[in-house]
Amino acid sequence: MSEQVAILDFGSQYTHLIARRIRELKTRALVFSPKTPAENLADSKGIILSGSPWSVIEENAPIPDKKIFELGIPILGICYGLQLIGKIFGGDVLNSPKREYGYSEFYPVSDSLFEGIQEKATVWMSHGDKLTKIPPKFKVIGKTPNSEFAAIKKENIYGLQFHPEVTHTPEGKKILKNFLYSICKAKGDWTPSSLLEIAQKEIKSKYRDKGKAVLAYSGGVDSTVSAVLAKRILRDKFIPVFVDTGLMRKGESKEIEEISEKLGLGVKIVNAQKYFLNALKGVVDPEKKRTIIGREFIRVFEKEAKKIGAKYLIQGTLYPDRIESISDIGPSHTIKKHHNVGGLPEKMELKLMEPLKDFFKDEVRKIAKLIQIPEEVYGRHPFPGPGLAVRILGEVTKERINILQEADYILIETLKGLNLYDSIWQAFAVFIPVKTVGVMGDTRTYSNLIALRAVTSEDGMTADWFPFERDDLTKIACRILNEVSGVNRVVYDISSKPPSTIEWE
Ligand code: XMP
Repeated sequence: MSEQVAILDFGSQYTHLIARRIRELKTRALVFSPKTPAENLADSKGIILSGSPWSVIEENAPIPDKKIFELGIPILGICYGLQLIGKIFGGDVLNSPKREYGYSEFYPVSDSLFEGIQEKATVWMSHGDKLTKIPPKFKVIGKTPNSEFAAIKKENIYGLQFHPEVTHTPEGKKILKNFLYSICKAKGDWTPSSLLEIAQKEIKSKYRDKGKAVLAYSGGVDSTVSAVLAKRILRDKFIPVFVDTGLMRKGESKEIEEISEKLGLGVKIVNAQKYFLNALKGVVDPEKKRTIIGREFIRVFEKEAKKIGAKYLIQGTLYPDRIESISDIGPSHTIKKHHNVGGLPEKMELKLMEPLKDFFKDEVRKIAKLIQIPEEVYGRHPFPGPGLAVRILGEVTKERINILQEADYILIETLKGLNLYDSIWQAFAVFIPVKTVGVMGDTRTYSNLIALRAVTSEDGMTADWFPFERDDLTKIACRILNEVSGVNRVVYDISSKPPSTIEWE
């Protein structure tokens, strides 16, 4: 079993990021509730206390089990984590009326945590509270112009006022690496082959009889990796089912057939296009669309699973989906409901196997590479469960699906031709149900509007719009305007997330 670093989540928006950084440094990081008893963390190589929207001065501010400080395990408190350490060990924390937010200069003192860090480093701050008196027996190991106690330590208990996990702290990863390898003495055993081993173990250990297993296949990297692993282990007892809702991108159903054949998955394809179109007739509210698609999907899939006589359901749930529910004190609430296949297991009384439940998306891609899934699958942009239904604002009709599929196809093809596809996290077209005036030849037109969205992101939690070269954007727009009938205007979305979201609905 791989070594682990435990992260106690006090609700910071950066908790996911701390876990990702530690894993990028080849050590398994697991997120725990802040209330976790110390004895449950005793086999960790290190413990990290996250930031928090709380102030340690507030009456009900979350605190960890104080026995964690007696385990002898290295501890790193980040921001709120530093203030917690300060308060617990007898220092003073003041709520400063002026929040410190943004870049700061940082002057580290020689310590193994800062090995290889510049004498004047740049760090990212985001805090209201401030440590004003250092606790007894602690020493200062770093300062900023505004914080006399920006980094403190006592034996192997460390506190940092700034955020080493964000990219705005350029040497932050080096600091985390020092914590892992110099202080926690980690081995770095979180490698693609250990990920694969864990994923396979989940299937093997849950498969107790000779029953059949099903999976809702979507063609994306998560379901393909889950399907390949399940096929290897369960062979003909495993049947992936692809429900064609008609809300896929152009040509996607055919591609899924081809990939299934190439990988020997034996995907069962269910054509339910008319069924979904009917169910969505007249529906304009985005959450209602999601609910209907989720519900109808379950109905269709359930029918197939019954025909197959399945006892098990394999789902490509990822680690971030579970982190959301670990801590109930932070901003980690879901902003939009993501109903795709959620709710399947309870309703269907199938035994659940989730081979990817411990991994982030980039780790699933690593497994995909290791088991030789073609790059066209693992390099593919994410696609939402409800498909084009959330990219057609307002009612979903056959005509709108056709227009959107054509525009989207041109966008993606052009990006690939320009060698930009892999530099973009996600790109797609959106159908906006307003008509605008245009002119074609000598004739006035009154046609549909298409918006283009292309964003860069690490994990979809935050995103920036992609800065196209003018010529590239022109090329995409010209092709859509010339080749897609029913479209006479194209706009480009330059909103970041937050405050916008990636999808338009
Ligand atoms: P948002 O729009 O929330 O998207 O910024 C973040 C990521 O999630 C995807 N997304 C969905 N995925 N079902 C899904 O399976 C959904 O209902 C859904 N809504 C958004 C989105 O494509 C992006 O990658």
